[in-house]
Amino acid sequence: SHHLAERLREGTRQSHTAAENTAFMKCFLKGIVERDPFRKLLANLFEVYQALETEMQRHKDHPVVGAMIFPDLLRVSALAQDLAYYYGSDEPARPLPAGQVYVDRIHEVADKAPELLVAHAYTRYMGDLSGGQALRAIARTAMNLPADQGTAFHEFTQLPTPEARRAFKAQYRNALDALPIDEETVQRIIDEANYAFQLNRDLVHDLEDEVKAAIGEHVFDLLTRQTIPGATERSPQALPHEGHPVGIPEHS
Ligand code: HEM
Repeated sequence: SHHLAERLREGTRQSHTAAENTAFMKCFLKGIVERDPFRKLLANLFEVYQALETEMQRHKDHPVVGAMIFPDLLRVSALAQDLAYYYGSDEPARPLPAGQVYVDRIHEVADKAPELLVAHAYTRYMGDLSGGQALRAIARTAMNLPADQGTAFHEFTQLPTPEARRAFKAQYRNALDALPIDEETVQRIIDEANYAFQLNRDLVHDLEDEVKAAIGEHVFDLLTRQTIPGATERSPQALPHEGHPVGIPEHS
């Protein structure tokens, strides 16, 4: 096998650390989740997943794309639910510039090299199943959300427990490893995954000024000064349990 799963993990390790070290995520991990930038992020992600899931469905008979379609993962209706909660009858925010670049890229690879959609699926879904679970807990506390509202995006109804999510991630990695692709394609998928991470960094970067305005420059500078050790710098087996907030020493 080409071991795509492990090679993606290793090949995007630095990108992951960089994503965790965006100012937006550093504030988030420290419990600063402002409602307006958060709902704008969801509005942008709605467009991103809409593009991703529509394009994957369009290519469902492609041997590489089709093998990576998992109904349990689909996020569009969960995001729609969250947008209805945060925006009510208001129109959700239009995509930010970086969000539009992200959406355009998904359509571009779908047209020119559909096998690269796998890189976009990996980058988002594996993240949602991993660190996304910690982010969900932080968002709920920070915004004092009412029960069952506002974090559908981070909830996988078909994968309700850490055990179920862990088992699913193993299945997802097996599917990656079984993809019928050559070495050159493996390399292009890793490159595209690194680009997908960058698109995610650019997206939250577009929201940074709003967070800064909300909490004040001084607090913002304090919260974003420190560099966080990356969650995927450790081996998956070494992680005591999925989704533990990074930067906090693990107790065993
Ligand atoms: C995996 C945390 C942001 C994509 C993980 C894991 C953790 C984690 C704990 C599990 C590692 C393992 O299974 O061994 C976090 C935290 C984040 C964050 C706390 C926010 C600050 C992101 C972002 C993305 C992302 C922004 C991309 C959009 C991924 C991916 C994996 C992953 C693709 C799977 C790595 C693998 O192949 O095993 N993350 N993450 N993460 N995360 Fe994140």
